[in-house]
Amino acid sequence: MRLILIGPPGAGKGTQAKFICEHFGIPQISTGDMLRAAVKAGTPLGLAAKAVMEKGQLVSDEIILGLVKERLEAPDCKNGALFDGFPRTIPQAQALADAGIPIDFVLEISVPDSEIVERMSGRRVHPASGRTYHIKYNPPKVEGKDDVTGEDLVQRDDDREEVVLKRLEVYHNQTEALVGFYTKLAESGAPNAPQYRSISGLGSIDE
Ligand code: AP5
Ligand code: ZN
Repeated sequence: MRLILIGPPGAGKGTQAKFICEHFGIPQISTGDMLRAAVKAGTPLGLAAKAVMEKGQLVSDEIILGLVKERLEAPDCKNGALFDGFPRTIPQAQALADAGIPIDFVLEISVPDSEIVERMSGRRVHPASGRTYHIKYNPPKVEGKDDVTGEDLVQRDDDREEVVLKRLEVYHNQTEALVGFYTKLAESGAPNAPQYRSISGLGSIDE
């Protein structure tokens, strides 16, 4: 099973990815998590990505495609994967299609902009695992601590309100076009074309 999750920042891609990956026994490929790990490790790629991410802009297609290509060579990707936050531009989607990697489903999680800022301001993350909490909607068992490891939770550098607004603008200008790209592909009936589903992200996490 191979799936792509599309949705604005804060839609709940990472949150739902954990359930889907556990259900199918497939790895989560989150380009955002991979970039944050590179920033933390201080690699040359991380240093280049840090400034771009802090401004809420997109890292270059070239860097992202290199990261994903390398990740897909790992043995755990043989039976499938869930892409979270990738592809994010038409050139990324085209490169994935050209690579001949068959995708079963593209799932769009749609949430209006008005909901996003509140979700982001309450988000807390466990950087090592990518587990995500919300102080009100999905609080950890012990305040400020990860449920599994007991380690500290942190706020993401790009969750400040002005950066969230920029990320939303970038989503509408550069990523939302993928909805058209994948709906058309699904309707084309081409062999290996993924099915497309749009899901409201406004329900509770379990819903
Ligand atoms: P990335 O990490 O992918 O961020 P994003 O797409 O902006 O999405 P988020 O991770 O912010 O949100 P999410 O949908 O995962 O929501 P979550 O589940 O955490 O990318 C970060 C940056 O990296 C980009 O800005 C860019 O610079 C760069 N980048 C990454 N990939 C790239 C690419 N392919 N190309 C170029 N650049 C790239 O949920 C949010 C909060 O809401 C949490 O607190 C959660 O608990 C809560 N919540 C979730 N669901 C619900 C619900 N149903 N009800 C109430 N609260 C909920
Ligand atoms: Zn995420």
